[in-house]
Amino acid sequence: MTPEVRIGGGVVSRLPEVLGQARRVLVVHGRRSFRAGAAAALVDGLATDVRSYAGVRPNPDLRQVREAVALAREYRPDAVVGIGGGSAMDVAKCVAVLAGCADDPRSYLLGSSPIPERRSCRLIQIPTIAGSGSELTCFATVYAGHRKLSLDHPSARADHVLIDPDLASTVPTPVAAASALDAMGQAVESAWAVAATPESRDLAVQALETLTPVLGAATSRGTFTEPGLRTELARGAALAGAAINISRTTAAHALSYPLTARYGIAHGVAVGLHLRWLIGHNSAATAADTRHPDGPEALRRIIDDSQRICREGAGVPLETMIDRLLAMHGLDGLQIPRRQWHEDLSGGRAANNPRVVSHEDVLRNAGGTTRLMHGSRHS
Ligand SMILES: [Fe+2]
Repeated sequence: MTPEVRIGGGVVSRLPEVLGQARRVLVVHGRRSFRAGAAAALVDGLATDVRSYAGVRPNPDLRQVREAVALAREYRPDAVVGIGGGSAMDVAKCVAVLAGCADDPRSYLLGSSPIPERRSCRLIQIPTIAGSGSELTCFATVYAGHRKLSLDHPSARADHVLIDPDLASTVPTPVAAASALDAMGQAVESAWAVAATPESRDLAVQALETLTPVLGAATSRGTFTEPGLRTELARGAALAGAAINISRTTAAHALSYPLTARYGIAHGVAVGLHLRWLIGHNSAATAADTRHPDGPEALRRIIDDSQRICREGAGVPLETMIDRLLAMHGLDGLQIPRRQWHEDLSGGRAANNPRVVSHEDVLRNAGGTTRLMHGSRHS
């Protein structure tokens, strides 16, 4: 399923048209950002029966998914509308996919119950924070305690996506910076992924070419509030989302999840902290330890190309751009906490990294203190 995507200022006003004949609409969103933004007025004005699940929190957990799915199973909506950041998109996917199923959501997220090919309702995604690209992917991340669960199924992809940069005008700078790190990480990781295809690599290059001038301008101004920047950031993030929907992400994402689940570090920040050292690590791949199907030289060309795009777009290499976005998020000189990384390196995302990464590689490259940061929990 390929979503119908509309991007631009004011496109969110097309929601009634996109909903068409839907009689019962379930809106899935968070609390504060939703009420502060223009989306709330739009939903209030819908001339159809609407119910809301307003319990989405950053880094959503199984409890929220169970609550939202229970509401959907009782209400039987014709359409589910996700409004918010990547967390709202992810919960909306779970709700739309599992509304017509009978088992506990946990069993589908663990892969023990099969997910039906068809949904019982339509899915419309309206991202209000540009970055995750989640509105264009068919997978979602849900936490159960410190454990990461996943929904990964073609039916989790939306029917319609409305990307309206005006909705992002109230997003605080630290949140915008974390989301920008996620978008940039996803573009870089998609380009070098083992599972990349010519189509996904083309999307990843377009994403980087779109994102880097925006990131250069935003980090030098210290804000993402300029409407032109927001539009291009939304466009670049959506391209990166479309790229990883094909290629999936790699080790930076695999290693980011425990930082989010255990230490509450914002997802994009956790990705950026690992991406910074993985750029050099992957560039140094040899014939003996590369996983890239085209070999280490081709991998280096891909990474050099990403660096060139960043220099041309933003005037600095990728690592410097990551540092600037981390500083914009409010973190300077952060060290990655020391932990046992073996389990984080045993999954599919780590295997999709173009060079083998060991526990020792992470400790050597990512430092390792237990100095943690405060106030960095954003989605
Ligand atoms: Fe991500």
